[in-house]
Amino acid sequence: MKDRNKVKAIRFAETGDPDVLVCEDVDLPAPAPGMVQIKHGAIGVNFIDTYHRSGLYRLDLPSGIGLEAAGTIEALGEGVVGFKVGDRVGYCSGPLGAYAKANNVAADRLVRLPEGIDDVTAAASMMKGFTARYLLKQTFPVQPGQTILFHAAAGGVGLIACQWAKALGVKVIGTVGSNEKIDLAKEAGCHAVFNARTEDWVAGVRDLTDGTGVPAVYDSVGKDTFEGSLDCLALRGMMISYGNASGAVPAFEPGILSAKGSLFLTRPTLFHYTKKPEDLQTTAADFFAAVQSGKIRITVGQQFALADAKFAHLALHSRQTIGSTVLIP
Ligand SMILES: NC(=O)c1ccc[n+]([C@@H]2O[C@H](COP(=O)([O-])OP(=O)(O)OC[C@H]3O[C@@H](n4cnc5c(N)ncnc54)[C@H](OP(=O)(O)O)[C@@H]3O)[C@@H](O)[C@H]2O)c1
Repeated sequence: MKDRNKVKAIRFAETGDPDVLVCEDVDLPAPAPGMVQIKHGAIGVNFIDTYHRSGLYRLDLPSGIGLEAAGTIEALGEGVVGFKVGDRVGYCSGPLGAYAKANNVAADRLVRLPEGIDDVTAAASMMKGFTARYLLKQTFPVQPGQTILFHAAAGGVGLIACQWAKALGVKVIGTVGSNEKIDLAKEAGCHAVFNARTEDWVAGVRDLTDGTGVPAVYDSVGKDTFEGSLDCLALRGMMISYGNASGAVPAFEPGILSAKGSLFLTRPTLFHYTKKPEDLQTTAADFFAAVQSGKIRITVGQQFALADAKFAHLALHSRQTIGSTVLIP
């Protein structure tokens, strides 16, 4: 193996709109001890990538971008056991630099891709599916017969989570940003769907629950929906604020949680639920089994060439995407 290869990668030197993303030839060194080099077959585009690019989440610049890809092992660093060249693997917790033809990744952050899960499906679904899993099974473990509210129900995480929640016996009320997305969210198992831009979804949730509210709200929209989401909760309900697609939630008085019904609030992240390698493997096995059983279908709504990454970000920002988005290197 050569000391280093030249690979095409997307990088950015300053934060800003999607135009800051540029395609460059970069040096990829041979993998260090404990790392493997993966030739990417497909790259996952996640909303967190837009937070890195915009500066909402701070990075040292210049930087690569992207945390998720699937492909084939091309080289092993010293001391790597359990993998060989040619194995099909995926990763979704970095290191940054997944928007590239290849990347070096720590062996203990890899998951094996089972038969029948191709690179596009894996890249489209690992971060989103693993997130849906911990949200529904760990953060607030849903129980059959419960009704929950899930925002951005036709998005990447949303379409997976709605199908999984339905399979777990839960009624899902979804919100989406356009009428076209309503049917998609219903096909994914939502029992009722509101267009959050045109309908009073808070009143809708109250009506559908006979005024009681829901025991859990899964909110990745952030600033625009935070307060309304609290108003949808039943007494002692759980607000799971796991994203900021519309902007970060501003600071607020904790007393508001008491006033609105002794509510619980958590702001979880996948990285903490899969930090231990064994938790990552359990999560991956459970998710891939749900896909292989047919309980969850992965919708890849958009594919872009690697060099067109900025258009993928534009589509995400403008709320035009459905399901998952991938880049093809
Ligand atoms: N904490 C974690 O562990 C974790 C892990 C993965 C993802 N996430 C979060 O989960 C969310 C979904 O991630 P994803 O990658 O699957 O993205 P996505 O759901 O495919 O895209 C985000 C969606 O948010 C909705 N949205 C509402 N207001 C928006 C606005 N002002 N601008 C842009 N979008 C808006 C849009 O759907 P509508 O137009 O239908 O409303 C949009 O399609 C993101 O907030 C992400 O940060 C969190």
